[in-house]
Amino acid sequence: MDTITPEPRPAWIAGRPEQGGGTLEVTHPFDGSEVATVAVPDAGQVERAVAAAAAVAPAFRRSPAHVRAAALDHVSRGLAARAEEIAEVITAENGKPYKWAEAEVRRAISVFRIAAEEARRFSGELQRLDTDQGGENRLAMVRRVPRGPVLGIAPFNFPLNLVAHKVAPALAVGAPIIVKPAPRTPLSALVLGELLAETGLPEGVFSVLPLGNAETAALVADPRLPVVSFTGSGPVGWSLTEAAPRKHIVLELGGNAAAVVLADWPDLPGAAARIATFGNYQAGQSCIAVQRVIVERAVADEFVPALLEAVRAQRTGDPYDTTVDVGPVVDEAAAERIVAWIGEAVAGGAKVLTGGTREGATVEPTLLTDVPPEAKVWAEEVFGPVLALSVVDSADEAFAAVNASAYGLQAGVFTRDVRQAFRASAELEMGGVIIGDVPSYRADQMPYGGVKGSGVGREGVLAAMHDLTEEKVTVFTGIDL
Ligand code: SIN
Repeated sequence: MDTITPEPRPAWIAGRPEQGGGTLEVTHPFDGSEVATVAVPDAGQVERAVAAAAAVAPAFRRSPAHVRAAALDHVSRGLAARAEEIAEVITAENGKPYKWAEAEVRRAISVFRIAAEEARRFSGELQRLDTDQGGENRLAMVRRVPRGPVLGIAPFNFPLNLVAHKVAPALAVGAPIIVKPAPRTPLSALVLGELLAETGLPEGVFSVLPLGNAETAALVADPRLPVVSFTGSGPVGWSLTEAAPRKHIVLELGGNAAAVVLADWPDLPGAAARIATFGNYQAGQSCIAVQRVIVERAVADEFVPALLEAVRAQRTGDPYDTTVDVGPVVDEAAAERIVAWIGEAVAGGAKVLTGGTREGATVEPTLLTDVPPEAKVWAEEVFGPVLALSVVDSADEAFAAVNASAYGLQAGVFTRDVRQAFRASAELEMGGVIIGDVPSYRADQMPYGGVKGSGVGREGVLAAMHDLTEEKVTVFTGIDL
């Protein structure tokens, strides 16, 4: 795809492409080169998008499942047909290595396919009411109906797939959606707009508004958009619940994901390789990228050198080079902040086993040890290619360390001991626990979301369909049960 076009790339207002009142420049994080100019809608266009979403909502919620499913299938097939071109767009705007951009497109294809399947199945349930006196011959039909049009606010780190996770479930349940992509990475969402426009869904069912973060406040406050689904940073996310306390708000926030390696794990080099890869994939810019590595002392002598070697083997460079593992972070300011956090840990006593520096926006894959628990690289979300290692004496100590965090998104536990696996599942304060792998594993049909500072609500197609709808009960009396 030629991203530099004679006119700015249009926004999607109530399903139609339009130039805006202003423009936004998109640059490539690796070298700052110009990628595209994008139309930024003005206040009148935003109003039209919201009014159209509100107007179409009653009819769209009652549209046949096969119509919505066909539209979702169309988008899935369209993404597949344009996979290579869209992966290039993702790399251009986000800077993630091309192989990870390809993986993201594959996932988005699945998200729309899964949503089409779920749209066909989503039926509600029957509940008999004659379980207690007074309920004889009564039956409840419990349906799930959309809470209303959705405002989906997406982050830069998965500019296609985290938009897909907002759009696909909304369309599957019959809720119009307005997408606000991240200002640094609006292009993938705009391509999605092109595919949605081909579906013939009614006007107002979708809009893609590449607004600045400041202009989004009015949308958050707008009562015609009763659901806000946000993925991004904690401070912004929690501020939404304060700004719109009466709305249904889904927050997918950050984490400082831990990988625990217990002494029984049979393949320590294998665990080290997975941890090095998923501490550094997308330059660590995933909410479930491995950040904290907690290993039992009994195997530390074998595991730590293997991890160090695997981290050193991660190749940095031009993200279009298919042999590159680690590209730039989103911008130079982010790289500066990450290196400053490493410096803070070192000042507190941490040792750098490898990495610790940056070149432009590219941060060298970094492994730290002896990190004080209050250092930001341990306690906060680093969102960079940095692993902080801790050696502990027991599984008890490891699980306590995992839980000693303000966040609770996902954790990975390398164990083959079924009792430890069940303990981890029961005791770890997380939205998800991955046994035998890194915390970064996510299948798009799984419920996904966090506890504590990591947010509220769940994504994952069916889980999001539940979250975007509410139960409506109809009681039938005089029924022959
Ligand atoms: C995220 O960064 O929260 C999304 C991770 C993923 O979808 O793999």
